[in-house]
Amino acid sequence: MTDSGPTKEHIVRVELAERSYPIWISSGWLDRLGPYARHAVPHGWLCAVVADENTGSAFGEAVVDSFAAAGWSTQLHVVPPGEQSKSLEHVQKLYAALSLANADRNTLVVALGGGVVGDLAGFVAATYARGVPFLQVPTSLIAQVDSSVGGKVGVNFRDPRGFLVKNLIGTFYQPSAVFIDVNLLGSLPRREFRSGLAEVIKYGAALDECLFERIEHELATLLEREPSSLVPIVARCCELKAAVVAADERDLSGRRAVLNFGHTFGHAIEGLSSEYTHGEAVAIGMVAAAKTAELLALADETVCRRLRTVLQRAGLPVRFPPELSVERVLEVMARDKKASRGELTLVLPVRIGEVRVVRGVSPTAVREAIQWCRS
Ligand SMILES: NC(=O)c1ccc[n+]([C@@H]2O[C@H](COP(=O)([O-])OP(=O)(O)OC[C@H]3O[C@@H](n4cnc5c(N)ncnc54)[C@H](O)[C@@H]3O)[C@@H](O)[C@H]2O)c1
Ligand SMILES: [Zn+2]
Repeated sequence: MTDSGPTKEHIVRVELAERSYPIWISSGWLDRLGPYARHAVPHGWLCAVVADENTGSAFGEAVVDSFAAAGWSTQLHVVPPGEQSKSLEHVQKLYAALSLANADRNTLVVALGGGVVGDLAGFVAATYARGVPFLQVPTSLIAQVDSSVGGKVGVNFRDPRGFLVKNLIGTFYQPSAVFIDVNLLGSLPRREFRSGLAEVIKYGAALDECLFERIEHELATLLEREPSSLVPIVARCCELKAAVVAADERDLSGRRAVLNFGHTFGHAIEGLSSEYTHGEAVAIGMVAAAKTAELLALADETVCRRLRTVLQRAGLPVRFPPELSVERVLEVMARDKKASRGELTLVLPVRIGEVRVVRGVSPTAVREAIQWCRS
C-alpha cells in the first residue's frame, strides 16, 4: 500500500454521478485517516469527530492525532452509547458545538462509531449550514457492511402520543467517503459482532452465492475476526450494497427491497420482543422466509437447510420465539412498510444468492413456516 491510496481491490466506488464516493477498506491503518480525509475534502480545515462513549474512548485519541498530524484542527464530540442518542436533542447539542467552534461549510463531520453515530452525525452534516462534508468511519460490523453505505441518515422521533418512531426524521445525504478499518471490530462486543454477521450472511444468501460459500468455508476465521477474511468479505458486502444503492438511491423503485431479506419477519420479532438484537431477529427472519419459499415451491429444501446451518454455526438464533403468537406476528408483518394494500409482500429466496420480491404471499404458508421454525 502506498500513501496515494490503498490497493485497488480494497476500494469500492458508490456510483451516483456527482455524489459518487469511495469506500476504502483495509486493516490496521487508522493512523492514515487524516491524510485520507484530505483526499476526500481537499479544502477542509476543521474536523468535528462524533463518537459515542465506547468508540470515543477506544479510538478517539488515535483519530484526533491522525487528523492533527495531517494539519486539521480537530474536536471530539461524544454522545452516550445506544439508540437513545439518535434524537433531535442530540442533533441540537451537536449544532450548538459546531456553531461555538465557528464551523463553516468546509468543516468536515466525521462519524466514528456504529450505526447510531453514523445516522446521527450524518443528519447533522446534512442539515448544518445546508450541508457540510461528511466522512463515515464505521466501527461496528453492521455499520461497516450496511449503515455507512447508501446515504440514509436520520434520528428517531417521539410523537405526541409518546410512541417512539424509528428513523422518522431524516434524509438522504451521501458521505464524501467511507473509511473502513476492520481491526476496529476487535473491541466490538461478541453479540454485536455476531449480529453484524447476520447481515453479512444476508448479502450472500440474497445476492451472491460465491460470497455465501466463502462465508461457509471461512466462518471460523471470520468469528476470530481475522483481517485476511474480514477485508475481502466486508469489501464484497459494500460492493453489493453500493450496486443496489446506485440503482435506487432514494429507495423509490423497489430495487433496495432485496436488502430487506429476512427483515419483515425480523421487524415483527423485534417489535414484539425485546430479547433479540436486530441481527438476531433478521437471522430468524431469514430462516422463516426460506421456509416460506420452500412451502410455496419457490425454492428447494437445501436453501433453508444451508442458511440455518451457517447461521447456527455463527452463534445466531434460528428458532422462532415460541412465546410469540403467530397471529400477532402476522398482524405486525402486514403493517410492515413492505406490505401493500393489505397483501403480504415478502422478499423470498429462490436459491442461495437470489431473492425475489413476492406479492400476495399466502398467510397460510407464512403460518406454517413460523410453526416449523418454532419446533
Ligand atoms: N442508515 C442506514 O442505512 C442504516 C442501516 C442499518 C442500520 N441502521 C441503524 O444503525 C443502528 C444500529 O447500528 P449498530 O448495530 O452499529 O448500533 P450502535 O451504533 O448502537 O453500536 C452497537 C454498540 O456497539 C458499540 N460499538 C460500536 N463499535 C464498537 C467497537 N469497535 N468497539 C466497541 N464497541 C463498539 C456501540 O458503542 C454500541 O454500544 C440503528 O439505529 C439502525 O437504525 C442504519
Ligand atoms: Zn438490517
